[in-house]
Amino acid sequence: DAPETLQTRPPVVTIMGHVDHGKTSLLDALRGTDVVRGEAGGITQHIGAYQIKTKGGELITFLDTPGHEAFTEMRQRGANVTDIVILVVAGDDGLMPQTIEAINHTKAAGVPMIVAITKADKPEFTPQKIRERLLEHEIIVEAMSGDVQDVEVSAKTGAGLDQLIEKILLQAELMELKANPDRAADATVIEAKLDKGKGPLATVLINRGTLKVGDILVVGTHSGRVRAMLDDKGRQVKTAPPSLPVEVLGIGGVPMAGDTLTVVESEVRAREVAGYRQEKATAKRTTTAPA
Ligand code: GTP
Ligand code: NA
Ligand code: MG
Repeated sequence: DAPETLQTRPPVVTIMGHVDHGKTSLLDALRGTDVVRGEAGGITQHIGAYQIKTKGGELITFLDTPGHEAFTEMRQRGANVTDIVILVVAGDDGLMPQTIEAINHTKAAGVPMIVAITKADKPEFTPQKIRERLLEHEIIVEAMSGDVQDVEVSAKTGAGLDQLIEKILLQAELMELKANPDRAADATVIEAKLDKGKGPLATVLINRGTLKVGDILVVGTHSGRVRAMLDDKGRQVKTAPPSLPVEVLGIGGVPMAGDTLTVVESEVRAREVAGYRQEKATAKRTTTAPA
């Protein structure tokens, strides 16, 4: 076999923090859109996945996570597929339960963190208080002579957004993130649902390789063939390279978040693998079912 050709890939950055601390607003400001207003009650219900192109042309993939306490598992999932975590803390509030939970997930995942102290436009903004509280969790930010990057931002005025982008790109450069785009893809399911018109839909993040329309795949206990792919703006794409989040149509059922999608050589093989996994799942259910 020829040696793998690794190429630099965009960083995958997960935004975490307490409910209503401004995660989605910050991401909206970075993307120049307004997702918050479209959300039921302004509460993020799922992990949104987006890719932005910076002024310098670099790509960054962002995953938004919900802050509500019912969503611990989703935050864990976010921390597991991510290269860098942005810990969002509202500078007019303090370290709250989901802030601390996010800190713990990030530490457990061994992922570098950048602290964004947000709502800098507010008169009650006291970032120094936040930095001091972070010390209690062994997070020593740059402003306190530590090595965790921190930045003051406002989603409302746009203050600090360029610095935040710079810090992400700097961190990504240090990490030398690479993947081989010239191989069969594997990807991680970020979220999935059944759409009445389109059938099963899965938002996946490409780990390595390039996913193509027509590829035969297995994901969890399902097989399928990529019928179409949509990017985060709903545009059809024919190919999806490493770190790109895409919505995949053509899967035979609804996979579970966290499932791995792999491309296989034939439909026979896809059905074989999916069938084997279904049997295993059924056996497990049967043996663990209450008498
Ligand atoms: P969940 O997804 O529900 O956990 O919330 P979130 O962290 O995504 O917060 P969201 O972006 O929904 O913002 C919560 C509230 O804070 C909204 O009313 C926003 O308008 C407000 N907000 C967010 N960022 C800023 C900011 O930089 N300045 C000011 N003044 N308000 C902000
Ligand atoms: Na909110
Ligand atoms: Mg949100």
